Amino acid sequence: MAPYIGSATSRVDGRDKVTGGAKYAGEFNAPGLVHASVIGSAIAKGRIARIDVSEAISVGGVVAVLTHENRPPMADDDKAYKDAVAPDQGSPFRPLYDDRIRFSGQPIALVLAENSETARFAASLVHVEYEPEKHVTDLYSKLNDVVSLKAPAKPRGDTASALASSPVRHHGEYYVPIEHHNPMEPYASTVIWEGGGKITIYDKTQGVQNVHGYVCNVFNLKPEDVRVMSPFVGGAFGSGLRPQYQVVLAVLAARALERSVRVVLTRQQMYSLGYRPAMIQRIDLGAETDGTLNAISHDATTVTSQYENFHRNETTWSGLLYKSANAKYAHNLVRLDLSTSCDMRAPSATTGVYALEAAMDELAVALKLDPLEFRLKCYSERDQSSGLPFSSKNLRECYRQGAEAFGWDKRSPEPRAMRDGRELVGWGMATGIWEALQVPIAVRIALTANGHAEVSCATSDIGTGTYTIMAQVAADMLGLPLDGVDIRLGDSTLPQSPVEGGSWIAASVSNGIVTTSRAVLKELLRLAKEMPNSPLATAAPEEVVLSGGMIVSRRDAARAVSIADAMQHDGVDRIVREETTRFARDSSHAHNTHSAIFAEVKVDEQLNVVRVTRVVSAVAAGRILNAKTAHSQVMGSVVWGIGMALHEETLIDHAFGRIMNANIAEYHVPVNADVQDIKVIFVDEKDEIVNPLGVKGLGEIGIVGVAAAIANAIYHATGKRVRALPITLDKLY
Ligand code: MOS
Repeated sequence: MAPYIGSATSRVDGRDKVTGGAKYAGEFNAPGLVHASVIGSAIAKGRIARIDVSEAISVGGVVAVLTHENRPPMADDDKAYKDAVAPDQGSPFRPLYDDRIRFSGQPIALVLAENSETARFAASLVHVEYEPEKHVTDLYSKLNDVVSLKAPAKPRGDTASALASSPVRHHGEYYVPIEHHNPMEPYASTVIWEGGGKITIYDKTQGVQNVHGYVCNVFNLKPEDVRVMSPFVGGAFGSGLRPQYQVVLAVLAARALERSVRVVLTRQQMYSLGYRPAMIQRIDLGAETDGTLNAISHDATTVTSQYENFHRNETTWSGLLYKSANAKYAHNLVRLDLSTSCDMRAPSATTGVYALEAAMDELAVALKLDPLEFRLKCYSERDQSSGLPFSSKNLRECYRQGAEAFGWDKRSPEPRAMRDGRELVGWGMATGIWEALQVPIAVRIALTANGHAEVSCATSDIGTGTYTIMAQVAADMLGLPLDGVDIRLGDSTLPQSPVEGGSWIAASVSNGIVTTSRAVLKELLRLAKEMPNSPLATAAPEEVVLSGGMIVSRRDAARAVSIADAMQHDGVDRIVREETTRFARDSSHAHNTHSAIFAEVKVDEQLNVVRVTRVVSAVAAGRILNAKTAHSQVMGSVVWGIGMALHEETLIDHAFGRIMNANIAEYHVPVNADVQDIKVIFVDEKDEIVNPLGVKGLGEIGIVGVAAAIANAIYHATGKRVRALPITLDKLY
């Protein structure tokens, strides 16, 4: 029932998802579909001296083996491989392009067969001779050979002297390992060979139009000959932002064979792509004895490949969040013989704020201040870097409601002071911050006289609930029941949308629907006015709304015309409008979301097993479009934060430059038994500045700060400060 906006509406695509009705990129079929198996390099650096496919090709059912020697043509300039998310500097990876090996697991051949088992078997019969070169995959071995990046935020004051003269100081070095994307849906692409030079690509991606542009450039194809579809995405959060190599391989193969082709990476092969860069962060904080923060210094060193300088602004958050007259930053990049790192949920904030918030906890201990009280002392009503006030910031209420729900006031300040039987109990907290972004977006609405609307936009739903919030906003704006609205997305032929990333789609597409709905309303009113003795003859568009199938005056509900009558009178059965929404530049405010996270851990004193028994996450993210999917977003983020704090770590055997735990048996992510009580609170935050609906986005804020809150709780439980994630039990001995 209207209003749908804000309500706990279940996913409109939920039934399809749980009954198998939703199809993913690797599930689409076509007559004569060819299946592929990717062969990855066994060395981390060097070249392919010889590649012998004769034995593989002789296997019955094998159609072809593609290598750099026999692949169809592809672009030879870097520009063709740049995409909407590519870093500025460097040369994007091109699979099967030449004989160079840049990372272990790099695709070097593609075996194509009538079924996937045959392709995989034949792949084992391809013989490769390499000329290896010396590789480096260990971050710590290259700290003297770094690329210095321009600091993202302006330093302020004189941090060195402020630190030197601060009576209470903290210095700490924090480490976050490489973490790999492990969405349920693997990287997959199915290319349907339509004939006449046309292809339809089902791709696991967060941006169909980004992939469309990329494929057209790489293969020099006409835009109208390529359609990219991604109706459902089985998790992504950064792994599907850039077009990944499997889509290139699938298109290469389809063009070579002039047949439909499917490429699905195995779970192991997913580790040749998509990781959060390892990073070493040094934080220095200086304060007065009363807890006034004087200085923040944040240095980060992060990992990228040899061919692209991929990085995000790890250090920005430190200078923004807390009141401090002095702040400085440095960011270095280490180039290793690995694939390029990539975005992973709240890239830079998840890691940068982990280090900052662990350091803030350590300084609070040194100051003998309650960690929450210390944060309130440093609370800032302005973005400290830009000096701008926030369009809205209700972090104070996050602290208050979170602390109350958690029972923070019952905390004994001393470590090892709380127990439950043979378990030590620890309580920790941290702050989270993310950006509230919005991007230009186009939405089309087709409203029919029988009270049905189709709303389309080329965005994706990476599992976050985009279908549902779009349906809710459209239903409210058009005055229709939820099931009177159909949403179309994940198709490059639909109205323009950027990738679904940065937590910007909810704000962008919901306001986009408002804009286009208004255009529909205006046209309906024009039709209504043409009716004889129209009760709306003098009404202006701002005076009317759509409700229950009627165009109704806001002032006088008796003045109304049925939508069906208005359309019939004019002989139209359909109104179609497409509008692009551009958000006004607001250079007088900072736009951010915030959160406060409170965590309880219990640590077995004999075994050092850590369990996260309770988490309260209180979030301020403007207007919440859907209480249920928003709750799920933050709950899922907290689960991922538990993984970051306790489990996730990609381990490399540096002798071979190869990932050792490329599977989810040995790369640990939280399972049900690791997840106990998670409480999510959304505090009221009315934002009339950020955009008309006051929506600020939710996809990422929920993970920021979680690992720090847990790490701080472990210190409180055990008295041991572990600064290198994940905090596995061996580190607590
Ligand atoms: Mo997000 S890491 O922008 O999918």
